[in-house]
Amino acid sequence: MFGRVWKWAGKFRHSGKNIGIDAYQIPTALKELCDDVEYWIENKTYEPDEIAARFHHRLVAIHPYPNGNGRHSRMAADLLLRSMDQESFTWGRENLTDPSMTRTQYIDALRAADKQDYELLFEFVRS
Ligand SMILES: Nc1ncnc2c1ncn2[C@@H]1O[C@H](COP(=O)(O)OP(=O)(O)O)[C@@H](O)[C@H]1O
Ligand SMILES: [Mg+2]
Repeated sequence: MFGRVWKWAGKFRHSGKNIGIDAYQIPTALKELCDDVEYWIENKTYEPDEIAARFHHRLVAIHPYPNGNGRHSRMAADLLLRSMDQESFTWGRENLTDPSMTRTQYIDALRAADKQDYELLFEFVRS
């Protein structure tokens, strides 16, 4: 993943993309997301898996960077799980960056989550 890191790595995007909120909203949306996750953990609002899956979905929907958002937000979700003493997700056990049936299943699950239906995503991340 860090083999040939882009020069702009770590810098938020400034222009719009098909996916993601308006660029100017990125810093506040990230702060809101982190505050929500902190609250969910402290109050045990959801199980750890659900917290990490919801975190992943929200983070990739914000789409902070020009590219690499899928990879970044999957790793961030796995790090969050580890911080809660949980195993990393299995993410369909395939490379999700290249086109495949598994990637299609993953994108479908994210789209369902956009409509507040998280079941497909909860299932996918442990498949
Ligand atoms: N409709 C969609 N089509 C493609 N990717 C989507 C869609 N909805 C959400 N995504 C997320 O955006 C990611 C692709 O964004 P991108 O910044 O190119 O990340 P990466 O380069 O790591 O694949 C996907 O991995 C997925 O997590
Ligand atoms: Mg990409």
